[in-house]
Amino acid sequence: MFGKRGNDDGNRSTPAFRPPVTAPSPAGPSADTLVAPRPAATTPAPAMAQRRPVEATPSFAPEPKKVQRERSESYYDTKSQVFSALIDTIDLSQLAKLDPDSAREEIRDIVNDIIAIKNFAMSIAEQEELLEDICNDVLGYGPLEPLLARDEIADIMVNGAKNVYIEVNGKVEQTSIRFRDNQQLLNICQRIVSQVGRRVDESSPICDARLPDGSRVNVIAPPLSIDGTALTIRKFKKDKLTLDQLVKFGAISQHGAEVLKIIGRVRCNIIISGGTGSGKTTLLNCLTNYIDREERVITCEDSAELQLQQPHVVRLETRPANLEGEGEVTMRDLVKNCLRMRPERIIVGEVRGPEVFDLLQAMNTGHDGSMGTIHSNSPRECLNRIEAMIAMGGYTLPQKTVREIVVGSVDIIIQAARLRDGSRRITHITEVVGMEGDVIITQDLVLYNIKGEDQNGRLIGQHVSTGIGRPHFWDRARYYGEESRLATALEAMEKSTD
Ligand SMILES: Nc1ncnc2c1ncn2[C@@H]1O[C@H](COP(=O)(O)OP(=O)(O)O)[C@@H](O)[C@H]1O
Ligand SMILES: [Mg+2]
Repeated sequence: MFGKRGNDDGNRSTPAFRPPVTAPSPAGPSADTLVAPRPAATTPAPAMAQRRPVEATPSFAPEPKKVQRERSESYYDTKSQVFSALIDTIDLSQLAKLDPDSAREEIRDIVNDIIAIKNFAMSIAEQEELLEDICNDVLGYGPLEPLLARDEIADIMVNGAKNVYIEVNGKVEQTSIRFRDNQQLLNICQRIVSQVGRRVDESSPICDARLPDGSRVNVIAPPLSIDGTALTIRKFKKDKLTLDQLVKFGAISQHGAEVLKIIGRVRCNIIISGGTGSGKTTLLNCLTNYIDREERVITCEDSAELQLQQPHVVRLETRPANLEGEGEVTMRDLVKNCLRMRPERIIVGEVRGPEVFDLLQAMNTGHDGSMGTIHSNSPRECLNRIEAMIAMGGYTLPQKTVREIVVGSVDIIIQAARLRDGSRRITHITEVVGMEGDVIITQDLVLYNIKGEDQNGRLIGQHVSTGIGRPHFWDRARYYGEESRLATALEAMEKSTD
């Protein structure tokens, strides 16, 4: 019964990715997105591999009517001519054997020759741009490359060939980036997913994958996605935000951060709740900084994102089924296995299904200080979600028993939210304190109060203490010798106006 996959909401996706197996890229993973190993050469788009002249490579022909804003038709025309000359000259299967840098050099040399021989009138800058463009098409992720290279972008969302959105600083904006057509877009998606040994086409139109730099990718192709392939990339941030940075951004106040540090340090069991992209994983990563270096920590994730600084860490990752539908390892498998690995704390990147029960078990059987994130919009909803996820595991326990288990396991729920102005804030630090009859009782320690809006549409608010001087976890704080620090932080919060 536990083998059944959770399917509670639209958010559920095939978890995780596995390391490249069937289609290893030539030079192994690299953090540099621009020259990251490209599977392109190993899985060239069919049209390109056959070395046909330009009319046989429609995906590189210009689209006269729908031209990118800043590029003229003649640019595409030139590019298309250079491109067809290039594939006449070069043997793509030979190119496949080169490492990405050498392949780039090779293409660069030939393209320069072609431009010289055919006598195209171009400035050096135009020539450089063309070169870059062609290299990206042949070796890389085409029009996505400039977006992948920008570190400040958090998400890239492609809705068919002509609509590309990005999220920067919490705001979603449209870019002028276009794919030539849906075929080019699908080819690039294919390149991405083939790196993790998967494929995407009409017969398997949904696919999760990962870029070599750790960015998470989801592809959903037609016919499921009606207006062309939809590609979503959650970019991997190499430098994770720290709690101090979150304070600087106003995600939490100075004193609120102090409370969080204590909560992490004194081994409260924590659930971080929040919507997609609200900053759950970032926050989880921050909290792990306050774990003692001596503790043995095991992390379970769909795709390794956490960056723990402690030396004694075992990192585990789930695995989707392969093309034959075999070999899947679920989050639940991992969490269960974890319990046999003598962990002191268990950290689950994203709790989505019945593994919640195993995590709760861990929390109340001596693995204090375990943590996980759950997709929900308030601490109360988070508790409901936990109950629902336990039911997904097939347990038919009385509701009251389930709630008692939850109360006995979870100490703190931290709510993260992305507000309407794009800012990300911690909106609640809430304690789970007990039961009254059949109802779980919680109390908020810290809340974010929105007071209004400035002239730029940015929300003005403040983190406030709810005036609880002695939180439920007071005894625990005292046990770790942190009670006076806790009292000071809560008191300061009550007085402060930041
Ligand atoms: N407080 C914050 N201020 C600004 N950016 C943030 C903040 N918290 C998270 N981010 C950024 O938002 C993006 C999504 O965060 P993430 O933690 O992955 O969200 P989630 O796990 O909830 O989907 C990341 O790029 C992250 O760096
Ligand atoms: Mg996350």
